[in-house]
Amino acid sequence: MLYAVGSVLLAGLSVVTAQFADPRIVGTWSSKSNSTFTGPGFYDPVNEKFTEPQHPGISYSFTEDGYFESSYFRAIANPQQPQCPKGIIQWQHGRYTIAANGRLTLTPFGVDGRQLFSDPCIHSSAILTRYNQSEEFERYEAIVSDPYHNIPRLNLFRFDGSPVMPLYLVYRPPQMLPTKTLNPTGVSATATSKSQKFKRSEGWDEIELPLNHRVLSKREELRHATADRWWWFGVAATGVGGVLYFCF
Ligand SMILES: *[C@@H]1O[C@H](CO)[C@@H](O)[C@H](O)[C@H]1NC(C)=O
Ligand SMILES: *[C@@H]1O[C@H](CO)[C@@H](O)[C@H](O)[C@H]1NC(C)=O
Repeated sequence: MLYAVGSVLLAGLSVVTAQFADPRIVGTWSSKSNSTFTGPGFYDPVNEKFTEPQHPGISYSFTEDGYFESSYFRAIANPQQPQCPKGIIQWQHGRYTIAANGRLTLTPFGVDGRQLFSDPCIHSSAILTRYNQSEEFERYEAIVSDPYHNIPRLNLFRFDGSPVMPLYLVYRPPQMLPTKTLNPTGVSATATSKSQKFKRSEGWDEIELPLNHRVLSKREELRHATADRWWWFGVAATGVGGVLYFCF
């Protein structure tokens, strides 16, 4: 059930955009491994620290008043060097809108998102970068009770119609960090304090942090994350290309 909550008037122009809310998507959703969640257990914005989930997975949270948060933990198999899986952790939050045609758009607070990339056979430490990637879902399906798991399920479909792995309801109301910009002054402060470690390679603006950021050291576990592997592989291929990197 969709119902209109309002319209937005832009800068005196009579541009009216209908927006909708859907109480069925409110909550914290997680993929089948049920170990990656949004909220403070995944990302600590004060210390810019991630806690690595037990298994790869993704999680989205939505509030009833238009905020979202997303957490990804992706393991990427390396067929040439099976002992060298890569890992990506991504976290974002911001606003979401649902259009009249069901399109779901996530617009992050650009300064807050973070990505941690680990390629342990190449870099001894993981690489923390800002991450700011809006997401567009062509449509979604909120299923009140999944026949197999007997809990609400959310199916998201990417802009090209392909399905995201199914998400299952974990918390309602959602478990999230505060739904406001958490790091409004961090850009200049961080740039100053960390600029000495800044390095460039292959067009990426990167910074390397010591591994006390507790990152993706459990190679054994990543290697055995076979269930999701095919999926992570595909996401990595599309995801990495679309990532915007920023220096701190
Ligand atoms: C998923 O994990 C959460 C938190 O640990 C737990 O409360 C919930 O029951 C789990 N859900 C399923 C379907 O196992
Ligand atoms: C985040 O990305 C959006 C869309 O590409 C862009 O308009 C915005 O300026 C970016 N924000 C930051 C802080 O980089």
